[in-house]
Amino acid sequence: MKSFALKEYGSPAVFYEWSHAPKPLKETQVRIQIVAFGVNPYDTYLRQGKMQDVRPLKFPAVLGSDLAGIITEVGSAVHSFKVGDEVVAVVPLRAYSEEIVTAVTHVVKKPRSVAFTTAAALPTAGIAAYNLFYHMLENYLRQTIFIAGGTGSVGSLLTQLALQNNFQVFASGNSANRSQLVALGLKPENYFPYDQAGTVPPAVDIFVDATKGSRGMALGLKILKENGTYIALNALPQETQQAQLPQAKFLPLGQDKSWSSTEALQELLQALGQKRLHLPLDEVLPFTLAGVKTAHEKIEKGANRGRIVVAR
Ligand SMILES: NC(=O)c1ccc[n+]([C@@H]2O[C@H](COP(=O)([O-])OP(=O)(O)OC[C@H]3O[C@@H](n4cnc5c(N)ncnc54)[C@H](OP(=O)(O)O)[C@@H]3O)[C@@H](O)[C@H]2O)c1
Repeated sequence: MKSFALKEYGSPAVFYEWSHAPKPLKETQVRIQIVAFGVNPYDTYLRQGKMQDVRPLKFPAVLGSDLAGIITEVGSAVHSFKVGDEVVAVVPLRAYSEEIVTAVTHVVKKPRSVAFTTAAALPTAGIAAYNLFYHMLENYLRQTIFIAGGTGSVGSLLTQLALQNNFQVFASGNSANRSQLVALGLKPENYFPYDQAGTVPPAVDIFVDATKGSRGMALGLKILKENGTYIALNALPQETQQAQLPQAKFLPLGQDKSWSSTEALQELLQALGQKRLHLPLDEVLPFTLAGVKTAHEKIEKGANRGRIVVAR
């Protein structure tokens, strides 16, 4: 069995092809032949060693949390899946592989109408957008929301959820990517390119920084209403900066134990299958070492427009 593994922390050059014996199956697990896996910005932080204080890796380390594939074996206590089922899974690590053995609690069925590549692109970004919207904004009906990085993987899903639920949505992204969000229903005048000086967005009730590297922070502090809510996918403003808005709430996107990732995945997959939701794919790269390295290089440079997937 082949995996794309890291031999140490470092640049994409530290990936190598690791051949190892398949894992035996426990009774509550399934074996999945992986058809496609998604590559996330978080994977690049893990590879670089930026997360080693909170999440150290054991080498050889196989990254990857998002995958879609076909079940090839089920444990004796598994009754909800059978061999041949097309599935999607969100796992802590090990998706950059030909196959994975994982607890059945990480797996959901893939609708036939959703391609393996799209399904593999969904989990991390989709669950983040879903949790943020349905669990953190549940009491905020029809308010104004600014999504910094609205053109990104999480941001574009969040933009769609907010528009569909009658929020007044404003978003930022590169000037070249305006049409991407307008096609999803954003009013052209509500798009504020971060690379062009121009009009300042109006004050908003909710500001979400969905950029990589917390690049929306300065704007968020400027346009958040006094009693608004600021949610960050990465770093929050420092306490001294938060003190400028003493009545505002500053929240990190967390993960509450009561939030079900598989429930979120199921709902999102259904919406994708019914074309109620769109997930832009930047590129589908080949299921090779070169494909994995290219995916990491592209994400690191910020050269992707949408999700990157590696597929057979
Ligand atoms: N906490 C969590 O649970 C969680 C879950 C998922 C992701 N994340 C994190 O959230 C971040 C976004 O993830 P993603 O997968 O959505 O990334 P992504 O697809 O690469 O999106 C990044 C977004 O940032 C925008 N951007 C780049 N420079 C900007 C600037 N100077 N000002 C404003 N926007 C700028 C990009 O716009 P253009 O593409 O138009 O240039 C794009 O919309 C990553 O850091 C990721 O690790 C956290």
